[in-house]
Amino acid sequence: MTRHTPRFIQTHRSDSEEERAAAIAGLQRTPAEASPKYFYDRLGSHLFDAITELPEYYPTRTEAAIFAARGGEMAACVGRGSTFVDLGAGNCAKAARLLPLLDASRYVAVDISADYLQEALRALQREHPALDIVGVGMDFSQSPALPPGVLTPGERAVFFYPGSSIGNFTPSQACAFLAGVRVQAAGGGLLVGVDLVKPVAALEAAYDDALGVTAAFNLNLLRNMNRAIGTDFDPTQWRHLALFDRAQSRIEMHLEARRALIVRWPGGERAFAAGERLHTENSYKYTVESFAALLSKAGFATSRCWTSADNAFAVYWAQA
Ligand code: AVI
Repeated sequence: MTRHTPRFIQTHRSDSEEERAAAIAGLQRTPAEASPKYFYDRLGSHLFDAITELPEYYPTRTEAAIFAARGGEMAACVGRGSTFVDLGAGNCAKAARLLPLLDASRYVAVDISADYLQEALRALQREHPALDIVGVGMDFSQSPALPPGVLTPGERAVFFYPGSSIGNFTPSQACAFLAGVRVQAAGGGLLVGVDLVKPVAALEAAYDDALGVTAAFNLNLLRNMNRAIGTDFDPTQWRHLALFDRAQSRIEMHLEARRALIVRWPGGERAFAAGERLHTENSYKYTVESFAALLSKAGFATSRCWTSADNAFAVYWAQA
């Protein structure tokens, strides 16, 4: 048996000047906006992990239960010997649970930084010594196109995009993203997790929990922006809000100024009136039918869908 070691490729280079200019442009807009990427510094990633443990935040555990109950059926759709491309792999835990069922020939883990993937991929390689493992550091939110040479022509690729992260794109961005995945997965497919529309109270509780963990996650964006772009946000002067917009079928997260204040940064400032908001995230919720329609608009053919017993969450297999 050939024993492999993981390979790593890093294409994303953070251009801090460009990122700073984009962040400041967002702060100057009316209403003001901040990119959700500022949630995820080290503390923010820990806070997100804590969110997934909250009783109110059902998506992670509901999706895991679907994978546990229906993994065999999913493996039958995926087929043997494919290349399994995990978008937003993180600690690779979700893929690690599916890999024993899939009999994949390669595992390509994609995240913003190949460094983040090192530890998880080395551990995974010990469990699967014959599996060809590649870690790719790229900003796939801009485009899911893998760097040249990662996939070889004719290779059957199956993309994996769990967690309902697709909901953090607008539907038109999601459609373009899915179309980009489809091109690369031709002959293979996509396994994607999607959060479904449900009563407003359950949705708003999931994004505004009793312990205030999601509030801390949202407010931590301000600390992270202070560090990254030199703003002087005072998190104590802002209040977390999570509201479901029925017309757009999305949870919106905002931070609301508790009083009139001025946020300053080197070279500029922005005044906020009391009650004025900074929009930090959208999380779109689909129906089984509306997401199937989006997959078909993105060019995917037949799809299978597994939902939880309470219809809270869905996992789709979409053939490319
Ligand atoms: C990462 N993403 C799918 C989460 C969501 O549910 O939209 C991010 C999140 N925001 C607040 N809680 C969780």
